[in-house]
Amino acid sequence: MNILLTGGAGYIGSHTCVALAQAGFHPVVLDNFSNSSPEVLARLEKILGRPVVLERGDILDTAWVEQVLRRHAPAGVMHFAGDKAVGESVAQPLKYFHNNIGGSISLLRAMASVHAAQGAWTTPALVFSSSATVYGDPASVPITEDFPRSHTNPYGHTKLVIEDMLAAVQRSAPDWRVGVLRYFNPVGAHPSGLIGEDPNGIPNNLMPYVTQVAVGRRERLSVYGSDYPTRDGTGVRDYIHVMDLAEGHVAALQHLLQAGESFTVNLGTGLGNSVLEVVRAVEQASGRPIPYQLAPRRAGDVAECYADPTRARELLGWKARRSLQDMCTDAWRWQSANPDGYRTGAA
Ligand code: NAD
Ligand code: UFG
Repeated sequence: MNILLTGGAGYIGSHTCVALAQAGFHPVVLDNFSNSSPEVLARLEKILGRPVVLERGDILDTAWVEQVLRRHAPAGVMHFAGDKAVGESVAQPLKYFHNNIGGSISLLRAMASVHAAQGAWTTPALVFSSSATVYGDPASVPITEDFPRSHTNPYGHTKLVIEDMLAAVQRSAPDWRVGVLRYFNPVGAHPSGLIGEDPNGIPNNLMPYVTQVAVGRRERLSVYGSDYPTRDGTGVRDYIHVMDLAEGHVAALQHLLQAGESFTVNLGTGLGNSVLEVVRAVEQASGRPIPYQLAPRRAGDVAECYADPTRARELLGWKARRSLQDMCTDAWRWQSANPDGYRTGAA
């Protein structure tokens, strides 16, 4: 069964390719490589022992996406493609509204048109990458899916709008099945060390920054805020191993295909870890000290954010299995084998 992954060469998409292939599906990667490297495909081939089909292009090109859908007749679509840097979205909001919302509209229109013309799907099935950012500054933790949604930056705003758009499409065409997955903080890498997170420039997120300090690419970490009302004063997040997240996508797809019902679920572990706990776990995994300095809070950050993952467990039979130490060990294996990410060259 073919499954189309928009943004399939990116961090989460590439790991989901592995999980899908291992579950017996045939992933088809659609990507324009605006934030990823074609080297990912060679690495996937190495892990899986066979090539993964690539469609290189832009989801904004609706006519081309229609051709891709006709060519591969996927049983389901996983929609990862989009821009994701919060700070950049504040500086360049139109880029985010155009690519994230415009890209989603283009994909949905292509799916609708192929469905109408060919009945290619008995019922179109779509899994969408949403984010815990839709909860804004939550009133309490753990966060359940029925918490109120809000946004604090244009990136988060695009996720809210796309969730609303998907709900409207389902109201207009009840045969569509949509799984909205709200990710918490994906970190780590495939245990092979062949694929992982490879941010452009200075990492915005904690884990890649810390592993780049460990590998000697950056001098020291700035810990943003040490006066939060948390156990050690630093921010607490729900870090989830990217392979657990990838397996959550497979469970979501299987539920859409078998049970035929739409849903929205949190993908998190339900546990919170502080910045300093992550630093210590990476020190242990790498055997290297992580120099850090305490710095002021980062604008827009919340003190604590972690999921109530009950709904995903009950509905999808999925639960995160890997520990913080697994996340750090696998992140370190990837970073130390690929100090310059995919630019390091053939592994
Ligand atoms: P990523 O940047 O590594 O992957 C996104 C991929 O989409 C990239 O390969 C990029 O080249 C591709 N892409 C972007 N615009 C495209 C377009 N117009 N046409 C074709 N391809 C395009 O990001 P990721 O971390 O893998 O995130 C995947 C999705 O999950 C995103 O939608 C992101 O917003 C969401 N998400 C990520 C996180 C996180 O912490 N990584 C958290 C919550 C939600
Ligand atoms: N942090 C530091 N130093 C750094 C980077 C981060 O101390 O150099 C701290 C932050 O202040 C925060 C924690 O580490 O307390 C985690 O920060 P990340 O940037 O890794 O993750 P966020 O929770 O801030 O943001 C992530 C995604 C967003 C998404 C959000 C909610 O990057 O896209 O989760 O899902 F919106």
